[in-house]
Amino acid sequence: MEIRKIGVIGAGQMGAGIAQVAAQAGYTVVLRDLEQAFLERGLSSIKRSIGKLLEKGKLDQQAHDAALARITTTTHLSDLNDCDLVIEAIVEHEPTKLELFRELDALLQPAAILASNTSSIPITRLASATRRPERFIGMHFMNPVPLMELVEVIRGHLTDEATTQAVLEVARRMGKTPVEVNDYPGFVSNRILLPMLNEAIQCVMEGVATPEAIDQVMKLGMNHPMGPLTLADFIGLDTCLSIMEVLHRGLGDDKYRPSPLLRKMVQAGLLGRKSGRGFYRYDEKGNKIG
Ligand code: NAI
Repeated sequence: MEIRKIGVIGAGQMGAGIAQVAAQAGYTVVLRDLEQAFLERGLSSIKRSIGKLLEKGKLDQQAHDAALARITTTTHLSDLNDCDLVIEAIVEHEPTKLELFRELDALLQPAAILASNTSSIPITRLASATRRPERFIGMHFMNPVPLMELVEVIRGHLTDEATTQAVLEVARRMGKTPVEVNDYPGFVSNRILLPMLNEAIQCVMEGVATPEAIDQVMKLGMNHPMGPLTLADFIGLDTCLSIMEVLHRGLGDDKYRPSPLLRKMVQAGLLGRKSGRGFYRYDEKGNKIG
């Protein structure tokens, strides 16, 4: 089955990035969020990001304009009814995702593929909300989507070969390198990354060092391009907490227990870069200011 039109649901950090790389790859894209204001925020972040590519000469004016022209936005799920592939990138909250997939399943053509960008919710469980578990798959992009090369492709228990091949091809056409993994909590990327971020947060709570010092240690000592607390802010502390909860529930071991400080910061609305404050402070464009 040839994929021509892609629906992206959620115009947040990830959804906007996915819509951008899909449009740059030549797909027709419909981007959906709950409110017009969220769509506008998503579109301006796409324009900023694609504008930078133009400035740097990585894209010419024609390709820039054509990519933007391929994206339409909507608040109505029904506008996605003729999509060949729908990639979901809404909040990391299982009941909300299950509800959305039930609606999508009823709306889309039988041959259409459903993909979730979930960071940690089992693909097999999300697929079971639909009558097309063989055409359901995980497509886990990395943040920021336009810059990061990896797409973790997660086969659910019933995902078929044709779906896997179609999605691997889409990821390659977007200029990404897909890596196939199986459906276990946190897959590979977050099962390894998140416990490290959680441990860094635990170090802040215990007063082992300041956030700046912890980030410096990991950058200069381990050659990480970004310190763990900067990265946690970047991912979103609410998303980090959800992933730790999934790891803790799914794998059982206490080493996956979310740090109480992480929980408290999320309760206080300190979600990191997207809310203007987490371990650091950010201006409205997301630049670190302290
Ligand atoms: P975000 O909070 O920036 O964006 C989520 C967007 O979804 C919001 O604009 C919200 O209005 C919208 N939304 C919520 N419910 C909706 C619905 N029913 N229909 C349409 N739109 C809806 O979140 P972010 O960071 O973009 O994460 C999205 C997904 O991607 C989550 O599943 C997350 O775990 C996953 N992810 C996040 C990464 C990160 O670094 N932030 C990396 C890889 C995956």
